[in-house]
Amino acid sequence: MDSKIVIIGAGKAGVALGILLKSAGYDIAAVCSKHKSSLKKASSYLDGFLTTDAVEAAKTGDIIFLSVRDNQIKDLCDSIAAKDGFKKGNYVFHLSGALSVDVLKKAEKRGAKIGCIHPIQSFADIKGAIKNLPGSYFGITGDKSVLLLAKRIVKSLKGKFLIIEDKDKPIYHIAACVVSNYLVSLINYAENLYKIIGINESDAFRAFYPLIKGTLDNIEKKGTIEALTGPIVRGDTEVILKHIEQLKKKLPDELSLYRELGLAATEIAFKRKSINRNTRKDLINILKGVKTDG
Ligand SMILES: NC(=O)c1ccc[n+]([C@@H]2O[C@H](COP(=O)([O-])OP(=O)(O)OC[C@H]3O[C@@H](n4cnc5c(N)ncnc54)[C@H](OP(=O)(O)O)[C@@H]3O)[C@@H](O)[C@H]2O)c1
Repeated sequence: MDSKIVIIGAGKAGVALGILLKSAGYDIAAVCSKHKSSLKKASSYLDGFLTTDAVEAAKTGDIIFLSVRDNQIKDLCDSIAAKDGFKKGNYVFHLSGALSVDVLKKAEKRGAKIGCIHPIQSFADIKGAIKNLPGSYFGITGDKSVLLLAKRIVKSLKGKFLIIEDKDKPIYHIAACVVSNYLVSLINYAENLYKIIGINESDAFRAFYPLIKGTLDNIEKKGTIEALTGPIVRGDTEVILKHIEQLKKKLPDELSLYRELGLAATEIAFKRKSINRNTRKDLINILKGVKTDG
């Protein structure tokens, strides 16, 4: 590929992106990071110009990724623009799902095209990112020519894309956070429940893991509505009542999340028509703690 890539921010996402683009044939012209130690780490994967000077790095490239943390992107972009680091014809991307492309406005004022390529994936470290990026979806945002390039880059990363309008990014990002971060919170919630009956976290997770995988397989095959199993979809109000009583007695702080997720499951069961209107009402009353017998 002719384009010269610059990675500014040699962290998890930036280094993985650089490595995968390099192996797809792109020329990685420069890698920049704040600390030399991060550059040293990156140098075991990437060659080229390694620098702590973001302006000098930006000057060497055509496609510039600002792969720093979300709260650092705007300041970094502004400071590079202020020192003439961007030029006409550059493409400047950030990788944030949460932020508008507007944080790159100063680069646009210097003649660059701006956009976002956000991997819908979570990386705990560089190795994990290299493993997980191929096959992932990417939310891409920008004008027509930016989208054209973004699609090419995503294809090189062996990914798939969703085009996200800038105004829709907040909702887009909420959904991605829920599915990743709150899944972690949910598993942690279940581990905490097992802890009080004497099963430690790692044993609990080992026991949950096949269940989680089985559930994901069902969702993949049937979709979320048909994949729901358990007492709510069976309309078993007695079991749900017992769950609530136990939580009230032993873990009152854990009750509110159980209630909210139970209400969500009740709506799924009703949509699926596995429970009728009356059972739905009974479940809602039990979950909300509404007394119905006077
Ligand atoms: N991690 C994920 O799961 C994930 C998933 C999707 C999208 N993203 C997005 O990817 C972007 C980067 O996230 P990350 O997780 O890769 O963060 P990270 O691992 O913390 O890496 C950020 C890097 O930016 C560098 N940096 C900070 N300020 C800099 C500056 N002024 N000049 C040059 N380098 C600078 C830091 O350098 P030093 O190490 O040298 O201090 C650090 O290595 C974010 O926009 C994030 O939303 C991340």
